[in-house]
Amino acid sequence: MGFLLPVLLALFVSLLGGLYLLGAFRRRRPGEPPLDRGPLPWLGHVLEFRRDTAKFLERMKKKHGDIFTVQLGGFYFTFLTDPHSFGSVVKEARGKLDFTEFARHLVERVFGYHSLTDDHKLLQASSNKHLMGEGLVEMTQAMMNNLQNLMLYSLGSGEDSANYGLFLYCYNIVFRAGYLALFGNEAVKTSGTLEKSKEVDRNQSDELFHEFRKYDQLFPKLAYGVLGPFEKMEAERLKRMFWNILSVQKVTSKENISPWVSEAQQVRAENGMDEEMQNRYMFLLLWASQGNTGPASFWLLLFLMKHPEAMKAIRAEVEEVLRQTGQEVKRGGPLINLTRDMLLKTPVLDSAVEESLRVTAAPVLTRAVLQDMTLKMADGQQYNIRQGDRVALFPYTAVHMDPEVHPDPQTFKYDRFLNPDGSKKTDFYKDGKKLKYFIMPWGAGVTMCPGRFFATNELKQFVFLMITYFDFELKNPDEEIPDIDTKRWGFGTMQPTRDIQFRYRLRF
Ligand code: HEM
Repeated sequence: MGFLLPVLLALFVSLLGGLYLLGAFRRRRPGEPPLDRGPLPWLGHVLEFRRDTAKFLERMKKKHGDIFTVQLGGFYFTFLTDPHSFGSVVKEARGKLDFTEFARHLVERVFGYHSLTDDHKLLQASSNKHLMGEGLVEMTQAMMNNLQNLMLYSLGSGEDSANYGLFLYCYNIVFRAGYLALFGNEAVKTSGTLEKSKEVDRNQSDELFHEFRKYDQLFPKLAYGVLGPFEKMEAERLKRMFWNILSVQKVTSKENISPWVSEAQQVRAENGMDEEMQNRYMFLLLWASQGNTGPASFWLLLFLMKHPEAMKAIRAEVEEVLRQTGQEVKRGGPLINLTRDMLLKTPVLDSAVEESLRVTAAPVLTRAVLQDMTLKMADGQQYNIRQGDRVALFPYTAVHMDPEVHPDPQTFKYDRFLNPDGSKKTDFYKDGKKLKYFIMPWGAGVTMCPGRFFATNELKQFVFLMITYFDFELKNPDEEIPDIDTKRWGFGTMQPTRDIQFRYRLRF
């Protein structure tokens, strides 16, 4: 007994220590938001959160109000659900709320990439230069050339109507054209002729897309760190394959590499990063640039097909833009070209793009709390937040689907973001006060998607070409719009639970 007692005591103390480390004893302190630790030590609410983030956050909001702290996989997350208060998170100084630390862990786990200290600054600088302003003109042109190669190469061949899954079709085309626009084309000097290079681009990008989809499907589990042993092996295989295909050595042998990609590689080399790590960064760029736009193009086209009044209005706008630029689509005629300037004259299509993103883009914005701080809510209330916690926003339920901000939120209304005079609508209200953050598919603040202008152009170019060159319809026009796959909440554009068949045929 004399021997057993110290052993039992030691066990008891370690158990208490373990539970303490697992967060089991955390209590809400005065001035802090309501605390909901969840049913499981350390894991907290993570299972319910993973199953359906939107539903879980709605439940928490009903229970606790506009701000609450929940435990998720060892971290305490404070969620803010009042959009009038979003500015206090989005605009907070980096010394208090920081994105980079959170991102660093995620990209290490998911992409095996070890960031440089200034990684985020470098990304911002090159994105501002090459994905916006004048840089966007070049990118938009490259996208156009590649869309033409993928969509219109069999023009005039009299090809028959094809049946296809709409999701796979849209994702495939937009992924491949985006990939080629960013990572470059097969060099003519390698393949011999321009036609041969274009064929290599079509085949190689198609193979890449099918591998990318495999990784894409593993992604939610990968991000949560819950892959099974076989899935882990497959994710590892895919990662290595992408590092190889996108390797600096291979990419630099291409033509028309975008300055966004080549500069990313160059600055990392100049900062002493080894080539293996640069290759890993290339995969990260592929992921960031191609994971959302393809799925977004699917929803947009599907909503237009399900809403004939929207399709009619956009068709009229497309025809008007072509007329104004003196372009006409005719058998044997030149391919139409859609420049960045032409895409500035499509307010109806802009509104439809925003509306489809409102209904289907659902990122979680997360920041790490670097020091104890106070969050000020728009109603004047203040809350203490602890160092080491996370602060997060989920604009999908807080804004996109709030019926007060967007009446009848489940319904796609192509002109929701248009004023009666045809200009862009930016006045949306909650509690009688104008909202600054009324739609947030691109996130906000320092981490707001730097590819948003390019992505919008990609979507518009794709729809533009579909409308001008193809006849297309749903195989069963009465088929319901597929549900959103709830396991992907938080990762950007949502995906459907199943595909939907459609028919398309080149008109020329
Ligand atoms: C419909 C398409 C797209 C959607 C919905 C989307 C959405 C987002 C969101 C929500 C974020 C994170 C924001 C945050 O955490 O605050 C993000 C980040 C990012 N996106 Fe996009 N994106 C799209 C397309 C693109 C494209 C085409 C590119 C590049 C060509 C791109 C490049 C990036 C990069 C590099 C980041 C990281 C930014 C940072 O860490 O500061 N995205 N995107």
